Amino acid sequence: MIPATGREVRLVARPVGEPDPSDFELAQAPVREPDEGEILVRNEWISVDPYMRGRMNDVKSYTPPFKLGEPMEGGAVGTVIASRSKIPEGATVLHGLGWREYATLDAGSARPVDPERAPAQAYLGVLGMTGLTAYAGLTEIAPVQDGDVVFVSGAAGAVGGVAGQIARRLGASRVIGSAGGPEKAAKLTKDFGYDAAIDYREGELERQLSEAAPNGIDVYFDNVGGDHLRAAIAVLNTYGRVAMCGAVSQYNKTKPDPGPDNLFQAVGKRLTLRGFIVGDHQKLMGEYVQRASGWLREGSFHTEETVVEGIDNAVDAFLGMLKGRNVGKMLVQLK
Ligand SMILES: NC(=O)c1ccc[n+]([C@@H]2O[C@H](COP(=O)([O-])OP(=O)(O)OC[C@H]3O[C@@H](n4cnc5c(N)ncnc54)[C@H](OP(=O)(O)O)[C@@H]3O)[C@@H](O)[C@H]2O)c1
Repeated sequence: MIPATGREVRLVARPVGEPDPSDFELAQAPVREPDEGEILVRNEWISVDPYMRGRMNDVKSYTPPFKLGEPMEGGAVGTVIASRSKIPEGATVLHGLGWREYATLDAGSARPVDPERAPAQAYLGVLGMTGLTAYAGLTEIAPVQDGDVVFVSGAAGAVGGVAGQIARRLGASRVIGSAGGPEKAAKLTKDFGYDAAIDYREGELERQLSEAAPNGIDVYFDNVGGDHLRAAIAVLNTYGRVAMCGAVSQYNKTKPDPGPDNLFQAVGKRLTLRGFIVGDHQKLMGEYVQRASGWLREGSFHTEETVVEGIDNAVDAFLGMLKGRNVGKMLVQLK
């Protein structure tokens, strides 16, 4: 049965600095029946991600800004409840119309996924964009070579939680992670397979990193930017490589920090600092999913999720993720 209405989260004001719950509105909207070639999906899992903060600003970027007064977009997984396409009713699909309970969309922009192979929400995390980001960064952008010492920031998060484990499988001899607070730092070595952990809230990042990597680092997977990038440049070895994945420490700043004051070391050390966007590396998805599914089946790949229930708590989940309230992938489960 197709419901008459469903709830959706709209952006109603552009945040300045840290977003406020009043920048968003939970609204009731009519559910549209699918036209020819379309499907109607009941969303079961929606993803909240740091990049969405950038889409709340009215600036030119690699993705267009969210429109004010309209539902936001983002990764979602759900069940097809009506179809006028080749995708049958009952199929589980991954698509880009999150932040709402029901989505009517072109079948061509949805990807059927197999919930028998992995839990449906894994396609938003370890077997989806998140996992692929870590894999692309460590294979194509700053390729890990045998014996490398690898440093990952944001190491207890969605991308960082898998990045360290992937680095190890690619041949890293030592993997160091950083996260905020003693509990998360402890989890890095206990659960996420890191050899050494840094609690960045203790400060003195460069000293902590030098102690954790007495012979320097060869690869830095940067999720955080700012002071983390500065410390990594200081400790990187000659010909070191940096995968510039994100800069979450800067997203809520009205005036972002200036670039690292030691950037000139990149010359003497012949460093490579390279940014990337996961969408450009979709061709790796098949290879990555095959490898990651194997690691998951063996039980040797540790993943975690932080699950918030209900669309009415989706904004809290997003704001909490930016403050570090998640371990592993932050997800919203819709009933
Ligand atoms: N390039 C791409 O295509 C691509 C794709 C996906 C994600 N990304 C980027 O990858 C990074 C991680 O994304 P994710 O989805 O895995 O998110 P996540 O790490 O699961 O969640 C965000 C984390 O950021 C950390 N954080 C917040 N403020 C911080 C600060 N001031 N300093 C240090 N850490 C801070 C928090 O962890 P703590 O508790 O440790 O502070 C929080 O858990 C983000 O920068 C994101 O933009 C890039």
